[in-house]
Amino acid sequence: MPLTNISLKRFRCFDDLRFDLSPGINFFHGSNGSGKTTILESIFMFSSGKSFKSSNLSSLIKYNNTDFYLKAFDSETGHIVEIKKEVTKPISVLLNNTKITTSRLLRIFPCTVIHNNTFSFADASPDFRRKLLDRSIFVANENFSSNWFSFYRALKQRNSLLKSGSVNEISIWNEAVSKEGELLTEQRENYFKQTLTEFNNLIEVINPENVFVFLKNIRIKFYKGWHEDINLLNTLSNNINLDLKRRSTIFGPHKADIKFLINDIDARQLLSRGEQKFFSIMWCCAQNEVLKKSYGVKPTLIIDDIKSELDEKVFQLLMNLLKLNRNQVIFSCIDDYFSSKIISKFNDFKKFHVEQLG
Ligand SMILES: Nc1ncnc2c1ncn2[C@@H]1O[C@H](COP(=O)(O)OP(=O)(O)OP(=O)(O)O)[C@@H](O)[C@H]1O
Ligand SMILES: [Mg+2]
Repeated sequence: MPLTNISLKRFRCFDDLRFDLSPGINFFHGSNGSGKTTILESIFMFSSGKSFKSSNLSSLIKYNNTDFYLKAFDSETGHIVEIKKEVTKPISVLLNNTKITTSRLLRIFPCTVIHNNTFSFADASPDFRRKLLDRSIFVANENFSSNWFSFYRALKQRNSLLKSGSVNEISIWNEAVSKEGELLTEQRENYFKQTLTEFNNLIEVINPENVFVFLKNIRIKFYKGWHEDINLLNTLSNNINLDLKRRSTIFGPHKADIKFLINDIDARQLLSRGEQKFFSIMWCCAQNEVLKKSYGVKPTLIIDDIKSELDEKVFQLLMNLLKLNRNQVIFSCIDDYFSSKIISKFNDFKKFHVEQLG
């Protein structure tokens, strides 16, 4: 990243669209159904081979066509990435004319997306927060994915033994799960701590406390997935009867989570929608900051429909945050909030009117 020259063919509402992104801030505005989310979705495709809207990629092919084709150019590295999808075939990804797997894309074009379903970060399932954390660690550390897969493979084996009710070999799998699981957890804890530091730094810089009182009281904690005073191996052996009864592993890194507490009450029961959205954006920005500062990665941040649920004051806070951001940001909203006078306060700001692009 940053991707600059993008072209989309037969992708959702667009037949043939080309646009050049800024390596700084990019703002897409336009009416309902004009194609803003589609554009952001296409950019996310380059970092994952997936859509953040649909699990069925064939539904992204423009009506009455049989394929879509996306191409992007990374101005910094010179990389060219092409994504093709035909109705009857799996997705195919080419990096500089060579076939690669979609899982490699994230490391080459790291990107975080915030959209309507993820605005409620605190309210989402633990699985969502775990995935977001793991995605960043995967980008930061090359060895993380083999550790991650080894853990989940060992867990699967242990769970199938629990299902069959045969515990003879269980101690072997307790050891494998705990060895890989402790390693995985160490990396998660470490990345979480760094994110928390960056989160507090961001708060200090933009000083939102005169807008949001909750920020003074919120406590953010990493939960490993089991009781922190006992190691994973002992947790697994101590709970074997419970695991056998439930036919799966109750405690472990697969239950890890980030918890948000206000006066010891789960924050999701307290925060308003605007507070949740602001918090989610801040947390994702903090995760990206860690990638940038500690690992030299330059992730792109995508925020769809940035203004919804936010009042003027909070929107201004987010704009202040974006002014500080030195990475590529791509965001959308229905109305055009940016006069040329406001734009001049940002670095490398580019504005797109989506109806005119089509
Ligand atoms: N496979 C497809 N083929 C053709 N059109 C599609 C396809 N999938 C979605 N569309 C249409 O593409 C248009 C653009 O959708 P998109 O979600 O990008 O709009 P948007 O600008 O984000 O709107 P909103 O402001 O309501 O969020 C919509 O009219 C939608 O119905
Ligand atoms: Mg939209």
